[in-house]
Amino acid sequence: MRIGILGSGSGSNMQAILDAIEDASLDAEIALVLSDNPNAFILERARTNGIPTALIDCRGFKSKYPDEAQRETAAALKAAGVELVCLAGFMRLVRKPLLDAFPDRILNIHPSLLPAYPGLMAWQQAVEDGASESGCTVHQVDSGMDTGPIIIQAKVPVLPDDTAETLHARIQIEEHRIYPEAIRIVTGVTS
Ligand code: GRF
Repeated sequence: MRIGILGSGSGSNMQAILDAIEDASLDAEIALVLSDNPNAFILERARTNGIPTALIDCRGFKSKYPDEAQRETAAALKAAGVELVCLAGFMRLVRKPLLDAFPDRILNIHPSLLPAYPGLMAWQQAVEDGASESGCTVHQVDSGMDTGPIIIQAKVPVLPDDTAETLHARIQIEEHRIYPEAIRIVTGVTS
């Protein structure tokens, strides 16, 4: 199973997928890591591990993912033989050009129990809302924001003295467990 990963930030979820591959609990290979942010730590992590990387040129748009850039992304993933695309902290909305290239084969991880708290800073939304519970979700990507069929979720408690940061850290521990699990579920591939 050749996986392509798109990320804009730290890449800890990419690392968790890589760790699952290395400990043989997931029979897969990360074929390509793409980022829209040249300074993203995910690129450094990938290079350190000998994984090919490339930049996504979003034509100077801050948050838009132009169709042309999506077509280029799809072409790069196809050229690398990618069969499954994992969004891991990727901060742009994927739409038709990329979705059509990988039907039902794009996953995303979101730091809430969807459909609760879609969008940005979901952990902060949960704290501000006074929620007693939050978590994370891996789902298939469709053209909506954090919509699409849910594959797996994990719950975490929100503690009375939680800040957005402490809650996010607790959620991330579960993210790192369920993302490799979601890939196993979707692909039927274990080790
Ligand atoms: C994660 O919390 C993920 O749920 C959200 O962005 C964060 C990415 O973290 N979509 P990382 O780059 O994988 O460390």
